[in-house]
Amino acid sequence: MDQSESFARHKKVIPKWLALYYSEPIELVSGNGRHVRDVDGKEYLDFFGGILTTMTGYGVPEVLDAITGQASRMIHSSTLYLISPMIELAEQISELSGIEEAKVFFTTSGTEANDTALLLASCFRSSNNVLAVRGSYHGRSLVSMAVTGNPGYSPSSYYPLNVSYVLGGSRLRGPLAGLSDQQYCDRGVEDLRDLIANGIGGRVAALIAEPIQGVGGFNLPPDGYFGAIKEVLDEHGILFISDEVQTGWGRTGEHFWGYQAHGIVPDMFTFAKGIGNGLALAGVVGRSEVMDSLPGSSISTFGGNPLAAAAGLANLKYLLDHELQANALHVGRQMMARLQSGLADSPIVAEVRGKGLMLGVEIVNPIDGAPSAVGAARVLEETKSMGLLVGRGGVDGNVLRIAPPLSITEQESDDGVAILVESIARVARNL
Ligand SMILES: Cc1ncc(COP(=O)(O)O)c(C=O)c1O
Repeated sequence: MDQSESFARHKKVIPKWLALYYSEPIELVSGNGRHVRDVDGKEYLDFFGGILTTMTGYGVPEVLDAITGQASRMIHSSTLYLISPMIELAEQISELSGIEEAKVFFTTSGTEANDTALLLASCFRSSNNVLAVRGSYHGRSLVSMAVTGNPGYSPSSYYPLNVSYVLGGSRLRGPLAGLSDQQYCDRGVEDLRDLIANGIGGRVAALIAEPIQGVGGFNLPPDGYFGAIKEVLDEHGILFISDEVQTGWGRTGEHFWGYQAHGIVPDMFTFAKGIGNGLALAGVVGRSEVMDSLPGSSISTFGGNPLAAAAGLANLKYLLDHELQANALHVGRQMMARLQSGLADSPIVAEVRGKGLMLGVEIVNPIDGAPSAVGAARVLEETKSMGLLVGRGGVDGNVLRIAPPLSITEQESDDGVAILVESIARVARNL
């Protein structure tokens, strides 16, 4: 079917808040490695991986074999019965988690994983007071929107949690702008102490935070920030939940989990996206004492189902066997260096930031330096026309998000960066 016809039909039956990229949205129908094709046969280099989800690449034979093999035997049985792939994956995630004697609960989305972590924290601590970070994104349920510090993505006010927001988010604007790393940490700690002493009635269950904000525009605090924050939390027994939905599985290059840049071990963390390489697989891992604290029963019909778990196992094995974390570090550094030199003189780029294969480019108005969502949207149109897919985010919608599959090669990185730099130059001439 013609893509414009699909777009017309989409608009009639899909709610308008389910946003699409591009003035003429595309339908991707096949993929191989780091490349995808749309229904018209146009090929794109993919620097967004279906929102950081295609982690090892498209069409990875080892993952496909695991999926077809498992599908031919058993797709679904439910958690009422033992599921060997789920048990094995839980063992591996528990081992990799860095949390002692960790237990794992599988879900089908990051949203549901965060809901579960917050449910467990509120039961364990007998409190619905929760701390979250400004500029964050944690999902689309009432609970995960309650801790989402991004007004565009938390459009309701009917939330079951009592949430207070600690400092975080942009370092270009707002209360943290222009601060040194040390000042940033001191300011955050001071604010948190004040919030606990003067702002919140009763005990606090947990703080939930993304080590690098994803939807928020790849904002990252100084390394060690959450370590300093956790010292205060520990004084009060408040749990720390790391949302590793975007930062997990080695994407940041330096570490396997984003929390490791902060010298801490969280009480729980959540994962999703990359582990299933596109199959619906997510979950929460945490200290067994906390994970066992639910005073009732709970199930997830699809969470950790045989098909998704078998795919997750094969995908994780591929990631580890091919040392894709090291690749993320190496190619990510090269990409960052090329972007920084290629964009150094651009009047519409305020900052290139990030770690590993999670890099953000902040697009601004050349006259007053204000965030430019229009500029970022135009860059996306340009990259699309030249055969490159990138993402967009930021509370103001002005940050380009670059997060290719972790298997990307140096050559592919250079090819994509060349297109991106040229696209930004074209937009800069007309903004
Ligand atoms: C950091 C983070 N947490 C949670 C979620 C929600 O995950 P899902 O869309 O699988 O529900 C997302 C989705 O983008 C995310 O980026």
